[in-house]
Amino acid sequence: MSANPFLDPALVHGDLYCTDDRLAERTRALRQAKIAGRNAAQVVIDLLAQRTSPGAVMLDIGCGRGTTTLRIAAGLRPRRLIAVDASSALLDTVQTRLAQADEVGSTVCADFHHLPLPDAMADAAVAAFCLYHSTTPAAVVAEIARCLRPGGVAVLVTKSLDSYAELDQLVQAANLDPDAASRPSLYESFHSDNLVNIAATHLTVLDVLHEQHVFEFADATHLARYLATTPKYRIPPAGGPADLAAILRERLPVPPYPTRSTVSYALTARS
Ligand SMILES: C[S@@+](CC[C@H](N)C(=O)[O-])C[C@H]1O[C@@H](n2cnc3c(N)ncnc32)[C@H](O)[C@@H]1O
Repeated sequence: MSANPFLDPALVHGDLYCTDDRLAERTRALRQAKIAGRNAAQVVIDLLAQRTSPGAVMLDIGCGRGTTTLRIAAGLRPRRLIAVDASSALLDTVQTRLAQADEVGSTVCADFHHLPLPDAMADAAVAAFCLYHSTTPAAVVAEIARCLRPGGVAVLVTKSLDSYAELDQLVQAANLDPDAASRPSLYESFHSDNLVNIAATHLTVLDVLHEQHVFEFADATHLARYLATTPKYRIPPAGGPADLAAILRERLPVPPYPTRSTVSYALTARS
């Protein structure tokens, strides 16, 4: 396995995203813990709304479970919306969620390094929380730029290198993973500090936002739900989140367990 699980193709295209459950549970645990920070999908919509009109053609690259896709559909009313991801299981979830919300969009199963889409076909694109899965994120930015028409816009979103560092300390203090705090950040290939330079390789950067998100895990059960679904840690096999929660309860100080992450957005355009 690569030192960084987010850059390990076997894990990214296997355990991490080959079903909907793991991403859904990790997202739910984080959402329930959040006490400060705007909804990232809504920030993306607000950025795009200034630069697009209803009836546009839009792409959601690395769409995951379609959280941003659904907001684009409802908030920006595109004429055509294409959600792209390498996981067919997650694309099934996107289709189900779009149908449940009575929204229209199509899905394409593809590697974002080689988008099977024509040149200049889109007015706008989003790549949220996914380019850190590439060792060459500038190559994905080049693909996104190729698919945008001249003047088309893209929003790229990522997190800071030190995201959730407080949890590394807790996992280490609980003696669950002695190297947790010294292992590379999951976001090392594409993060708040290199976002602008990487975006600028193929796009013009119009605006950049950095927003701090603050989280508080209410108790050991809540924390275990997050830790059991993030690939960062090498926690010895236990019976599942309930056993992990019991260990955390025994070894950690009293809850809540706070942590932070900076979420960074680049609004860009194809010249
Ligand atoms: C955290 S999820 C994205 C969440 C989503 N964009 C959102 O805003 O809710 C990361 C996604 O990147 C996708 N991904 C990772 N490597 C990829 C690749 N090479 N090509 C396409 N998608 C990829 C994964 O399958 C996963 O769905």
